[in-house]
Amino acid sequence: MSRKIWVFDTTLRDGEQVPGAKLNLYEKLEVAHQLKKLKVDIIEAGFPASSEGDFNAVKEIAKQVGNTNDITITALARAVKADIDAVYHSVKHAENPLIHMVLGTSDIHVEKKFSKSKSQILDIGVEAVKYAKTLLPDIQYSTEDASRSDFEYLWSTIEAVVKAGATMINVPDTVGFAEPEQFGELIYKLNDRLKNLDDSVLLSVHCHNDLGMATANTLAAVKNGADKVECTINGIGERAGNAALEEVVMAINTRSDVFNVHTDIDAKEIMNTSRIVSSLMGLEVQVNKAITGDNAFAHSSGIHQDGLLKSRDAYEIIRPEDVGLDDMELVLTARSGRHAVKDALRKLGFSQLNEEQFESIFTEFIALADKKKEVYNHDLYVIVKNYFATNNIESVDVNNYADSFYELIDLQVISNTTFPSASVRMKKGTEEINSSAVGTGPIDALYTAILKVVDTDIKLLEYKISSVSRGKEALGKVKVIAEFNGVTYNANATDTDVIKASALAYVNVVNKIVVENLLPVK
Ligand code: KIV
Ligand code: ZN
Repeated sequence: MSRKIWVFDTTLRDGEQVPGAKLNLYEKLEVAHQLKKLKVDIIEAGFPASSEGDFNAVKEIAKQVGNTNDITITALARAVKADIDAVYHSVKHAENPLIHMVLGTSDIHVEKKFSKSKSQILDIGVEAVKYAKTLLPDIQYSTEDASRSDFEYLWSTIEAVVKAGATMINVPDTVGFAEPEQFGELIYKLNDRLKNLDDSVLLSVHCHNDLGMATANTLAAVKNGADKVECTINGIGERAGNAALEEVVMAINTRSDVFNVHTDIDAKEIMNTSRIVSSLMGLEVQVNKAITGDNAFAHSSGIHQDGLLKSRDAYEIIRPEDVGLDDMELVLTARSGRHAVKDALRKLGFSQLNEEQFESIFTEFIALADKKKEVYNHDLYVIVKNYFATNNIESVDVNNYADSFYELIDLQVISNTTFPSASVRMKKGTEEINSSAVGTGPIDALYTAILKVVDTDIKLLEYKISSVSRGKEALGKVKVIAEFNGVTYNANATDTDVIKASALAYVNVVNKIVVENLLPVK
């Protein structure tokens, strides 16, 4: 069996330090429950001395999430009695409570931040551990700014606090200054001495991402003996954030040939956790973010799509299902090649097209993709229908299918403080349908008006609008759940008008649902 790496999640403490990301008690509990599902070993639930709200949140997490033996709940204290007391009184309700305390070891911290001597700081740390040890058996000591500390002083501190009773030593790269090779060496040397001193003490790392190396530094530490990694979901945290849990875990899983270790994380819960954290904290995940970004499993280049359709391992190192996604996404854009378009048409039931027919349809596809950016299956149906109509090709199916889609003809939205309202003119096949609605805001009114026209019961889960092309165009993104089958669908649309981009994204998602439920070939 390979060596186990403990996963300590600090989304609710370091992650919550992101400006504007503060959560209320119920939101914190929701994240903590999800982290338990993800099977992290330790949750750092907050900094209880900072406010009564944080104290209560940590206490409730300890009671409601820490109520089983498979998880440890901790919270942060400075090396002062009042902070340690606050941590103790909030985490003590958990089955496995842990006190985490932090005190700097670099010259900058000792001399400039505390204006004290090294031996004074070391004594403060030792006394704090001794005090904490009277309250709980498990104590983690963090040597803040360890990566910029004098090695022998860092080691003297670790040796002294372990002798005083610390059971976990955390080595933070507080300012993201470390470099993987150097950091790996530091961990190797510390681990060697620590395991000789007391091999039951866990050696942990906590890396920040100021130079974009948090994950690399964490993994270098793992290679060099670290037993535990501190991470956050989506890599959120102070300044440029912390090592992202999903990146560290999936690197360990995917490159077991290099790391030869394992974690207990249930990787299938990664996407769920990422989405919950992102939506509750209001922190969007960068689209190209490794593992949890929207595009992490979306392939748009024609060369790649062709390769993937021949053999998935040509361009895929992680199966999307392994992190809780449905499947890889082949986005049809102007860059998609013939192979991807042919495959999409085949899945829609058009596998009998001859070369000449396909080439004409492909030309239309490219023209539309140039205008629309992303082409959906319902767009392909319409292209095929138009092609069949102009060439007098009989196909009852394609006419019926293409007549099932909705098209936005016009819209009007009024935004005001009393009754935001919207009216839409839409088309289904040849039939024109008008509708209007009021809502809690202009988008709510707009989506309610569209929903009145379409024959599908859907609930909006996510809506985003952002600018693209240096602000000239808006990108609308929606994610919905279809109530009749519980499946989630998402779609995008761009337009120079933000309201129209929002409406088109919603119509795209409705059509996506319609297509999936028409699909003749699976
Ligand atoms: O970055 C840091 O040093 C910390 C400590 C509290 C571990 O967040
Ligand atoms: Zn930190």
